[in-house]
Amino acid sequence: MSQTTQTAGDGTAETVTLIDNRTGKKIDLPILKGSTGPDVIDIRKLYGATGCFTYDPGFTSTASCDSAITYIDGDEGVLLHRGYPIDQLAESSDFMEVCYLLLHGELPNAAQKTEFEATITRHTMVHEQLTQFYRGFRRDAHPMAVMCGVVGALSAFYHDSTDINDPKQRMIASHRLIAKLPTIAAMAYKYSVGQPFMYPRNDLGYAENFLYMTFGVPCEPYKVNPVIAKAMDKIFILHADHEQNASTSTVRLAGSSGANPFACIAAGIASLWGPAHGGANEAVLKMLEEIKTVDRIPEFINRAKDKNDNFRLMGFGHRVYKNYDPRAKVMQQTCKEVLAELGIKDDPLLDIAVELERIALSDPYFIEKKLYPNVDFYSGIILKAIGFPTSMFTVLFALARTVGWISQWKEMIEDPGQKIGRPRQLYMGQTPRDYVPVEKRG
Ligand code: ACO
Repeated sequence: MSQTTQTAGDGTAETVTLIDNRTGKKIDLPILKGSTGPDVIDIRKLYGATGCFTYDPGFTSTASCDSAITYIDGDEGVLLHRGYPIDQLAESSDFMEVCYLLLHGELPNAAQKTEFEATITRHTMVHEQLTQFYRGFRRDAHPMAVMCGVVGALSAFYHDSTDINDPKQRMIASHRLIAKLPTIAAMAYKYSVGQPFMYPRNDLGYAENFLYMTFGVPCEPYKVNPVIAKAMDKIFILHADHEQNASTSTVRLAGSSGANPFACIAAGIASLWGPAHGGANEAVLKMLEEIKTVDRIPEFINRAKDKNDNFRLMGFGHRVYKNYDPRAKVMQQTCKEVLAELGIKDDPLLDIAVELERIALSDPYFIEKKLYPNVDFYSGIILKAIGFPTSMFTVLFALARTVGWISQWKEMIEDPGQKIGRPRQLYMGQTPRDYVPVEKRG
């Protein structure tokens, strides 16, 4: 890892000195410097020196690891993957290239790209017996519930890629997950609408194949619209990774115990499901449908500002971005392209979204709290226009984020200093007391 201790102008290591007012003892804590972004205070020796833990629920001031994959500057609205700005990747690259970049650290050359695409393509089918898992679910099951179950079940099928100590097996598991997620996601959709599963077509590109498996049926040819396939590919790029967010941290924490990669990704999917995280794009659409007409927007803005109302404007605000989410800008443009291609001129939901964004961006409450639209604000509208039901939105997010999760998992496993993740706590419960037999309890 490239982390170094910060040094002052005179060459000495920079530290932060902590004075324990209880004892008067001084503790020097080293400052570590990354390649860019905020420095960190290394507190690993703090407990030994003071007998105190640090307290940071929600990790608002805590770097949980060092990583060389993704960099975010939330104040400036910057997102880099391996140094490359997200807007450049969305504009000029494609999802397969971004997968390679996240996994390997560099963009592939032409031969590496061809080989990587061929490898991923060869892993698109799932074990035939896996299809029987779907039939155990109710038809009205939320597809994210199905995803948690089926992705976790991959570890019951691919025993030859669950040894986390074997670099070859780690790579095969990574390829399998990237390749099979579209198949598994499309099958979740097909099951929910009662249509037959579609086998992958290896003559199609990654996004194209996913659209084919989702919307195609065996009884007639299905031609994938190239504009929609391109938009889908872009959506995948925009969701590919996002540093140490809740689901990625979940994957790392699950993996830190040595759990196999399929189980870890299933844990990430569970974490992504929540409306404060990946479930937000589904929540945005539900909110727009609830608002119904542009004239009702002020009522909802007031509710969002009311401290006594727990309603929030979905798709606004972000733990890290205190500026425009750079992915939201690309998503807004993609949204326009998709609606134009599909000939959707007057989408009432889009009208509400545009007006909501305009009002929120000029409202002092949102300005003061730096609540800007996030990536989910526009993605729901695009996905709905393409034909996905809202329940599939978070599934698509999981599909795209799988490469980020597995890259972060791999980076962690390959770190020689890796330890099991084990946070401590501030205990607020009962102090020791004697057991009382049931007949003596009041
Ligand atoms: N609408 C109204 N007020 C909001 C919103 C919102 N969307 N988001 C935050 N606030 C307010 C809070 O009420 C709080 O106000 P206060 O300081 O007066 O108490 C303040 O802004 C800070 O909010 P926190 O919840 O402390 O901020 P945090 O960083 O923990 O939360 C989060 C970030 C969860 C994303 C939040 O902004 C939110 O719930 N947004 C809506 C859900 C959403 O869009 N999630 C998608 C995130 S992006 C992703 O996962 C890809």
